[in-house]
Parts: sequence; C-alpha cells; structure tokens
Amino acid sequence: FNSVDEVNKSSLVDKNVVVIDALRATSVIVTAVNNGAVVIPILEIEEALKHKDKGYLLGGERRGLKIEGFDLGNSPFEYKREIVEGRKIIFTTTNGTRAIYKAFDANNIYIASMLNGKATARKVVEENKDTVIICAGTYGRLSLDDFICAGKVIYEMNYLMECRLDDSSTAAYLAYRDYKDKILEYVKNAKHYKYLISIGCAEDIRYCFTEDIIDVVPCYRDGEIKAAP
Ligand code: MLT
Repeated sequence: FNSVDEVNKSSLVDKNVVVIDALRATSVIVTAVNNGAVVIPILEIEEALKHKDKGYLLGGERRGLKIEGFDLGNSPFEYKREIVEGRKIIFTTTNGTRAIYKAFDANNIYIASMLNGKATARKVVEENKDTVIICAGTYGRLSLDDFICAGKVIYEMNYLMECRLDDSSTAAYLAYRDYKDKILEYVKNAKHYKYLISIGCAEDIRYCFTEDIIDVVPCYRDGEIKAAP
C-alpha cells in the first residue's frame, strides 16, 4: 500500500485502487452509500458551495468540524437513511477526498473502511488484478488508523487468496493480525484519534472501528461514488 504522497499516478493505470480514510471520510462514504446516497467528492469548499440550493446535500469537514453553509458534517451518524436516501451529496474533507482524487488514473477505485473491509477484500480478490491501497493519512502523513484498516483489508484478501505483498503491506497485515482483538488500543496512539477525542467524537471512532457491518463496496466512476455492482 501507499500513503497518499507516495502515489505515482501512472503506476495506477490498469490497477484496482482501494482508498482508505478510516477516521472518518471513507467510513462516512461507506455509510452514506449503504444508506442509498450517491457521493460526489470535491476538493474545495468554494466549489462545493456552488452546488448549494440546487437539490444536493453538502457534507464534509475542515478541522473535523462541519463547514459553514453545509448541511452535514463528517460524523457517520449524520448520514442516516432517512436523511440521505436518494440524495446526491457533495462531499469535501481535508484528507479523504484528496486521496480519492489521487486515484483517478486507476481502473477501479473502491472506497473502504473497517465497516466494509471484508466485502472490499472479496471484491478485489474476485477481480484478481494488482491492487494498490491508498491511505489518506493526515496532512499527507501516515496515520495509524488507516494503516491498521489497510491491514484488515489485506488480511481478509490473504485469507481468500494467497497475495504477494510488498513490505508496507506486510507491516500493515501484521499490525492488524496482532491487534485485531484490541484495535482501539492500537488506534488510540494515532494523532488524529487524539484530535477527534478532543472535539467530542468518541462515538464516531467506536462506530468507524466496527468491523464488517456493511456489505456494500462504494466505487468511484465519472465523478460519482455509488455501490459497486
Ligand atoms: C479527513 O478527510 O481529513 C477526515 O475524514 C477528517 C475527519 O475525521 O473529519
């Protein structure tokens, strides 16, 4: 896998990419798509605001907080079925949406989290292609929450099929294997974990680290993220 600054776009052509921002952007996207929404990732707030009052919901964060003028923040609990079903959500976050943009040259771009880790592994193994996992990290730097989530996807892939792993993938695999029964013990060392706790998001963290409660695998194509067929 790669952290976001290591991604060389041309190396993604013909590959599957799995994008992970476990706390919290990809957990939110997985939840929203599972609840019937289409998510449109956008980089800049100004661009997102152009869609205001045009039938879209605007969601996302800066510094973990809801953006002024937006309908929704970046807590997965805001993306309930009764709110998002049948809606298109313009979504911009600090690191997660940027990581999705980094993947644009890939053949398929899947969105993963702990919530749909096993389903994501199944999907990429079915396709039997070289797979690159992009961890969004925090401001371009590796984040432990993404690292162990990548480890989960790799662990589940390896369970289904023996995979050839590079060393960073092996390191993530080993982290998940050794901590899978006490993941929060591991994740609590992450800088972003500590920040989210400081702004009152403990429940979000607990939810984002619940494993395999969602079978949907969101896929980015032509500007929109929808459930993969
Ligand atoms: C991001 O995309 O940077 C994160 O999802 C930040 C957050 O936890 O709100």
